[in-house]
Formats: sequence, structure tokens, C-alpha cells
Amino acid sequence: MAEAKRLPATPEIRERWGNFAWTPANEKQVAVVIGRYPPGRQQSAIIPLLDLAQRQIGAETNTQGWLPIPVIETIAHQLGMPPIRAYEVATFYTMFNLAPVGRFHVQVCGTTPCMLRGSDDVLEACYKKGLKKGSTTDDGLFTLTEVECLGACANAPMVQINDDNFEDLTFDSMTAVLDALAKGESPKAGPQIERQTSCPEGGPTSLPEMAGANHDYRGSWS
Ligand code: FES
Repeated sequence: MAEAKRLPATPEIRERWGNFAWTPANEKQVAVVIGRYPPGRQQSAIIPLLDLAQRQIGAETNTQGWLPIPVIETIAHQLGMPPIRAYEVATFYTMFNLAPVGRFHVQVCGTTPCMLRGSDDVLEACYKKGLKKGSTTDDGLFTLTEVECLGACANAPMVQINDDNFEDLTFDSMTAVLDALAKGESPKAGPQIERQTSCPEGGPTSLPEMAGANHDYRGSWS
């Protein structure tokens, strides 16, 4: 099971992040995002702004980024909403990190389809590389989190690492992905077997003439 989220609010965190400010580029992006919503509905921008803040902190700390509580409060204030409403959003979505993470946030799906298709092997590959659930490796590279379904069950088992999904994993292919990231390489995202997106393994099995061209089947229907 995924762990419950905590919202740390120590004096150190408040001192470090209490004066959070957008970069000039992100300041412009904030205006664009808020401008998408009708007047009086700017609170609808909470998710994209939390995401933008997490990415800004990620760029600043060379990690995947996280959301210190003073940053959440700054955004809530900017949007004219009670901080509790912003906390609710930040704690609901696993895309928001509420504690510092490493350069790569390895989120392993452990929900039933992935579990039945081998998520234990994927986790084992992580453990063999020194990753531990809920913590960051000493070199700051990897944080391991077990999460619930990430919506790619057709290609189970899978993990999300930062913005990429890695799918159809085995112990060996997960090991290869982690090795490549540790070496500074960019392993191919998506299925780790011969499969196009979420098509059947080995190619389409239904309406196969449609795979290469827009074949018109209507003449063969009686
Ligand atoms: S169960 Fe793992 S992606 Fe849905």
C-alpha cells in the first residue's frame, strides 16, 4: 500500500522557503495560467501552480522537486484561497511531493494488475540497487515510493520516474533503467518490450489491415 502523506512544517522549512518567489519566467507563466479562468475563479489554477512551483524547486535543487508548506501557503494566498484548500489538493495527488526527493523519483505501482504482473520483481530490482521505500539514496539520485494505480495497467507492471512511464517491466529491465539513469543516460520511456504504446504484444490482433493504412472494411460487411 502507498504510505499516507505527511505535511512537514518545521521552523527550518519555514525559514528556508518562507520567502519563495517565482522566477521571472514562471511569473509570466503564472499570469498565463490564471488568465485561463474566469474572473473570480482563479482558485481553479491551484493544480497547475502547485506543479509549476514543484518544478521550480526541482530546478533549483537539482531534484524532481517538492512542495514545502510555506510555498503551498504562498500560492494559496496568491489565489485568494484559504491555505487548507491548497493543503487538501497538495495532499490528495501523488504527483505532489510533500518532502524532498532525489534527482529521480521512482514511483512503483503496486496495485493489483501491476502486482499480478510482477511489481514485486520491480521492487526487488530497486532494493538490489540500494533503494528503500520512503527514502532517498545517499547519493541523492533516487527516491523510492510505492503508489496506487497510475493508469497504465494494460502495460503492467510499470513505474513512473519523474515525467516518464516505464512499462512492461521485469527485474532485468528495471535494473537496466536504474543503471542508465545512474550513468546520466536517458533510457527509452514507455514499454520495455516490443509493443507499440498499449497495443497487444507482437502487433495488432483486431482489424489488422487498419494498422498500416486506413483500410475500409465496410465492403466486407454483409
Ligand atoms: S495497476 Fe499499475 S498502472 Fe494500474
